[in-house]
Amino acid sequence: MSEFNVKELLSDGKVLQEVIVKGWVRTFRSNRFIALNDGSTLHNIQCVVDFENFDEQTLKRITTGASLEIKGTLVESQGKGQKVEIQVSQLEILGDSDPEEYPIQPKKHSLEFLREKAHLRLRTNTFGAVMRVRSVLSYAVHKYFQENGFVYANTPIITGSDAEGAGEMFRVSTLDPKNTPLTEEGEVDYGADFFGKETNLTVSGQLEAETFAMSLGKTYTFGPTFRAENSNTSRHLAEFWMIEPEVAFLDLNGNMDLAEDFIKSVLKHVLEHCQDDLAFLEKRLLDEEKTKPQNERSEMSLIEKLRFVVDNQFKRVSYTEAIDILKQSKPNKKKKFQYVIEDWGADLQSEHERYLVEKHFKCPVILFDYPADIKAFYMRLNEDEKTVRAMDILFPGIGEIVGGSQREERYDVLLKKIQELDIDEEELWWYLDLRKFGTAVHSGFGLGFERLVQFTTGMTNIRDVIPFPRTPQSAEF
Ligand code: 4AD
Ligand code: MG
Repeated sequence: MSEFNVKELLSDGKVLQEVIVKGWVRTFRSNRFIALNDGSTLHNIQCVVDFENFDEQTLKRITTGASLEIKGTLVESQGKGQKVEIQVSQLEILGDSDPEEYPIQPKKHSLEFLREKAHLRLRTNTFGAVMRVRSVLSYAVHKYFQENGFVYANTPIITGSDAEGAGEMFRVSTLDPKNTPLTEEGEVDYGADFFGKETNLTVSGQLEAETFAMSLGKTYTFGPTFRAENSNTSRHLAEFWMIEPEVAFLDLNGNMDLAEDFIKSVLKHVLEHCQDDLAFLEKRLLDEEKTKPQNERSEMSLIEKLRFVVDNQFKRVSYTEAIDILKQSKPNKKKKFQYVIEDWGADLQSEHERYLVEKHFKCPVILFDYPADIKAFYMRLNEDEKTVRAMDILFPGIGEIVGGSQREERYDVLLKKIQELDIDEEELWWYLDLRKFGTAVHSGFGLGFERLVQFTTGMTNIRDVIPFPRTPQSAEF
């Protein structure tokens, strides 16, 4: 008798084979039919209990959420909806689940309710599917880069530099606020607090990844990053995972090609390997869309959207062209949207990005050559001295999914910029060194992994695509 998981039993289990399977009860009907799920697949296996063979006490303990070990024979199923089922010969209750207390009942729970139960929500179909897709996407990310000669870099979580210069950092401190002398203003003195150094949690691994690119050629990071921004939106987390490739001898055009090819490749992988889960998530989204007014519903289904991205070229548009388009657009008074943007130089708000992607181009858009003043210090200044070789990729329903650029490789220009912005040049001596010794054109980008998972699974809130979301309100688990 061998042990199998549910996925194996349903896909290639041999009829009349004696099997062992372990999992959690989803439902137990008519004192006879157990729907057992072990997380290996969306589907449950039906286990048929001949109640005369089991004492009443045991049958009573088969409740939703209980964990079981089942031994039995795999047989063809007479019922609808499954090809095979298990005729149970032995059944052991591994862990009881009090039906009065167990919060995940076999009914539709709201996503808000489930967010409060982050430790158990993975047992639902929706979160099981999302987490399996997330896992396959992670694998596809590594597969893409490994197969294309990129070296995986592990960049530090605790760092002294603010890569984005946006000041959205969580401080790392060894100080005990209760036992720390106060400043004259009566506040804790967080001065040089990490064993004598000022440090924070990383907002991006990019600067350190550049050291890899300038030595090993092609590199990528894939790790957690932190932003202390007080954003309560469906697209922002305080802790999120970022994928950051960085490549020597690559310019902005090459960077755009790389980003587009990479995104298409991982989506293609998921389309091939997560068919069941995607079909389920597509249906879930369709049901959610039905609650919206007709004109707000998406024209494409989830899988159609994914295929569309894989099969169509992203539209490449300069910031200046985008501003012209936005200036000519009609403000939508009914929806209280104000697409119109007055000045060249302004940062695009998410409603502008949505207009460009969802209304104007109706496909993913790569915006490039942004005004230098609204972008980070490290971006390569263009010959016009006004714009930098930046690129953002905008996705329907998501907005910005990628931010990247060609990096400033000229020592003098970079130093001048650092000084202009009053960035502590001492902190970046090593970064400047990369321009002093064997500098070269190089580029890279950062893709927010949760935004990619959101797009792939059709989940509207970013809190539902990461197991334990950290946001200004929630870090309970
Ligand atoms: O545009 P960002 O800030 O770029 C960087 O950090 C660069 N250093 C990347 C690079 O060139 N290597 O962030 C990159 C991406 C965004 O496009 C977005 O997808 C995601 O990271 N992101 C967030 N995702 C979730 N929650 C947040 N608070 C995010 N902030 C950025
Ligand atoms: Mg950005």
